Amino acid sequence: MQIFHHSASVREAIAEARRAGKRIGFVPTMGNLHDGHMSLLEQARASCEFVVVSIFVNRLQFGLNEDWDRYPRTLEADSAKLQDAGCDLLFCPDEHEIYPNGMDEQTRVIVPTMTDVLCGASRPGHFEGVTTIVTKLFNIVQPDTAVFGLKDYQQLAIIRRMTEDLCIPVDIQAAPISREADGLARSSRNGFISEQERPRANQLHLSLEWVRAQLLAGRIDYAELEAAASQQIRDAGFREDYLKICNSRSLEPAADDDTELTVLGAMYTEKARLIDNVSFERQLGEER
Ligand code: PAF
Repeated sequence: MQIFHHSASVREAIAEARRAGKRIGFVPTMGNLHDGHMSLLEQARASCEFVVVSIFVNRLQFGLNEDWDRYPRTLEADSAKLQDAGCDLLFCPDEHEIYPNGMDEQTRVIVPTMTDVLCGASRPGHFEGVTTIVTKLFNIVQPDTAVFGLKDYQQLAIIRRMTEDLCIPVDIQAAPISREADGLARSSRNGFISEQERPRANQLHLSLEWVRAQLLAGRIDYAELEAAASQQIRDAGFREDYLKICNSRSLEPAADDDTELTVLGAMYTEKARLIDNVSFERQLGEER
């Protein structure tokens, strides 16, 4: 595996891979890699002969009171995992390489409207940071395919919209949510869950699944379902940020006759903010 800190070296190595007729797959990450990230890499490998992973803890997407400074940095362990998994190139730039003119002066990429709701409502500016860094990384790597996890459902929807709107020639692939045995979605932030909280930390998943079951049984009282699921989260000792039943494509609140639904939620443990979601189709039939 080649490891580079500078964009110029990444471009050279990728140009060589292209000359050899290889397709370029890309998995952008912020490191602290777990099995979920490895499944993204495997998915990229399935359609591409040359797989690039980036590790960059992007301060631009963290709010002032968020956990940028304590976000786990585990580069040595991450590189070993990537090496074992057959990654071809690891790009781990520093902040100066990515933001040479400083973050305040950085040109931004803004996707309107769908960035203001759900996670965007509680993390103002977050998605602007994400779309800006992803655009920059796409321009450096110029991949054929990029793989993003479905756990960050809103992020994925925004990146899809951005690539469509800006005519970025990258095929965006979604990878299924990787889960622990009890359903907790794998996340780099799970390391912040305390031992006491851990047995209950799958509550968000359980509540989202409960809402799905209710919707599949024909209920359309969305506000009541959202309130009941939020109460379940509080009963388990956590604080919900949001829990919303949405149209899977637009991320707007679901209409009564929407058939493709996604239920998204975020909750706070003592030291972490966890997100999760469940997507499904329903038939609008006799039961209604
Ligand atoms: O999902 C993440 O880890 C980050 O938001 C991403 C896409 C790597 C951009 O920093």
